[in-house]
This record gives sequence, structure tokens and C-alpha cells, in this order.
Amino acid sequence: MSYKHTQFWSVDKLDGEETLSPAITEAGLCISEGETVAFPTETVYGLGADATNDNAVDKVFEAKGRPGDNPLIVHIGSVEQWGDLASVIPEMAQTLADSFWPGPLTLIVPKKQTVSEKVTAGLSSVAVRMPDHAVARALINAAGVPVAAPSANRSGRPSPTKAEHVLYDLDGRIAGIIDGGDAGFGLESTVVDCTGEKAVILRPGGITREQIEAVLGTLNVLESGKTSDSDAPKAPGMKYRHYAPSSPLLLVDNEMEEVIAKERLAGKKIGVLAVDENKTKWEPLVDLFIPLGSVDNLSDIAAHLYHHLRLADESKVDVILCETFSKSGVGSAIMNRLEKAASGS
Ligand code: TXA
Ligand code: MG
Repeated sequence: MSYKHTQFWSVDKLDGEETLSPAITEAGLCISEGETVAFPTETVYGLGADATNDNAVDKVFEAKGRPGDNPLIVHIGSVEQWGDLASVIPEMAQTLADSFWPGPLTLIVPKKQTVSEKVTAGLSSVAVRMPDHAVARALINAAGVPVAAPSANRSGRPSPTKAEHVLYDLDGRIAGIIDGGDAGFGLESTVVDCTGEKAVILRPGGITREQIEAVLGTLNVLESGKTSDSDAPKAPGMKYRHYAPSSPLLLVDNEMEEVIAKERLAGKKIGVLAVDENKTKWEPLVDLFIPLGSVDNLSDIAAHLYHHLRLADESKVDVILCETFSKSGVGSAIMNRLEKAASGS
């Protein structure tokens, strides 16, 4: 599918009560007519299509170059829409939704038969999320249908946190894009499987493990990969290499100086991603230094991480070295994405 022209709408972040802007009405119509529209959320930009229209869902997979066995998250504009998608809503899912919706939390629940297999990639469950972003919810409500939306990047690229990232990856491949400024959190939602006895965190994200444990109790929460139950379902998307810059990315714990020296000896052009506090240490030693933000503000580092990975990617250095972070709180999502970006390097 190619478009001569990807329609570009610019909107200010609407506050909840504001009437719909003509741009959102138009973009909503576009989705209800079976087209693809990228839109801002409080995590990253999504690429939306009518979840009830298989042909529209196909266009999402095609535009992204996404493998068909990787299911999509269905976005809802109001909690009532959840009942159209889930065959049952497990108690823990209800508790999590009550605590964190609208927000950066995706809940996996048993699907209704009517939910298309294209959306769920043949699974018997469906991933649902109500975003905490006025533009996103206004768009879903204007479309009048649940909106299937993966992150609006070409498969394998870092998720977009700015409209310009979406254009870079998908211009001419999608019908339209709503520019609502920078996405908020900057990394994707937390994905929690609620189909078993315990909640399983399949992907760390905007809602931390600590927050989830605070409402469900520590004993009722597992992390994917750390479960003793080897049958625990995983998010199919997690097996793909993701967010990957074109030069090899190496995560470096404590030996940055040694690693720089080694790569230098090998004649490599070196890029370093590190916290602002280490700028004076590493910048003089390397070809490119990208400051990630202050070590004291992990949320700020998360918000700009994908932009920084994109910058590193465009720089054409031979190797990118990146500092690591502690895996608690927001650090867990940051490290999860960095480890994915580095996998295979
Ligand atoms: O923040 C986000 O979640 C963004 C914004 C746009 O909402 N969306 C997003 O979608 O990150 P995507 O497609 O890039 O990632 C969705 C993840 C994938 O790893 C996919 O495999 C998993 O959720 N997933 C979707 N449906 C699933 C299901 N029924 N069971 C297990 N995992 C599922
Ligand atoms: Mg994605």
C-alpha cells in the first residue's frame, strides 16, 4: 500500500472537555473508513486502524513490515468498550484497570470470539489499553470503533516519540498522521497477562512492577522469564529484535574506559550514550557523545531514549557504547529496551 501523500494534521493537546477539533473528526473518519492514521499517546506514537476491519488491520502490518504472528494492542476510548473485546474480565484485570486506566498499562484478557484473529495473531487473548492522552482518546471516540495500534515505526526501528519520527519511517505508507507534540513517557506501555492465576508482566513499561505489586500484592505478580511456570505465555513481539540501531550497540557496565580503548585500537569510529554527568569523562575520547539526561532523572532519560537511539543510528559510527542503569522503577523499562536494542550485537 502506498500513498502519494500522507495527510498531516497538527493539533494541540486537547484537555478532556474541549470540543473535537475538525482535524480529529477528519482523522477519525479516515479510521472508520478503513485507513491507517498515526496518533500521539502518552507512551509513544501509535499507528491506528479499525480493529473490527480485517482489511484495515492488514494495512497496519503492511505499512510497518510487521510479522503477522505479532498481535496488536486494541485501544479503547472509554472503559465500556472493554466489554466488546473481552469474554471475561478477570478480577485482577479489573483492579489494575481501576488503578491505572487511562494510562500506560496494557491488559491481556480472554478475547471475545468476535475479535478478529488478525488483531490477536490467532491467540485466544486480546491486549487492551485505554491511553491517557486527550488526542488519542478523542480520535478513538471520533472513529467510533476500537482502534488496533502498534507503535508507529517500521518494524525493528525504535518506537516514535515525535511526529517527525513517524514521518521518517512511514511517510507515503500510511493515510495520515496527527502531530500532537512529543509523546509523554517515551517508552511503551507495561503489558500484563491477566489470563492466568497470577498477573505476569510480559513487558516492563510506563507502570512499574512496584506500582502493580502495590495494588495486587507482591505474591500475585510474576515477571515473564522469571516464572517457574514454563508455559506462561509471552508477548510474541518480545522475541523479535527491536529498537535496533544499524551500528552494533554494546551495553557497558563499569569498564567504559577499557572498552573505548579497545574499540579505538581496532580503528573503530565510536559513539557513546551516557548520562550528562559523564559527559566530560567520555566526550574527549570518542567521535560522538550523546547525553541521555541526568542520572537523577530516569523519567527524562526514558522520554528521550528512542530519539537518542535514532540520533546514534543516523551518525554512522562503527560502534555505539551505552551505559547501563539499575533495573528498579523506570530503570526496568529502560534496560529492557536497551537490552533488546543490543541483542545480536
Ligand atoms: O505503549 C504502547 O503499548 C504502544 C502505544 C501505541 O499504545 N503500543 C505498542 O504496541 O507498543 P506494539 O505493537 O509495538 O507492542 C505490543 C506488544 C507486542 O510485544 C505484542 O506481542 C504484545 O504486545 N501483545 C499484543 N497482544 C498480545 C496478546 N494477546 N498476548 C500476548 N502479547 C500480546
Ligand atoms: Mg512496537
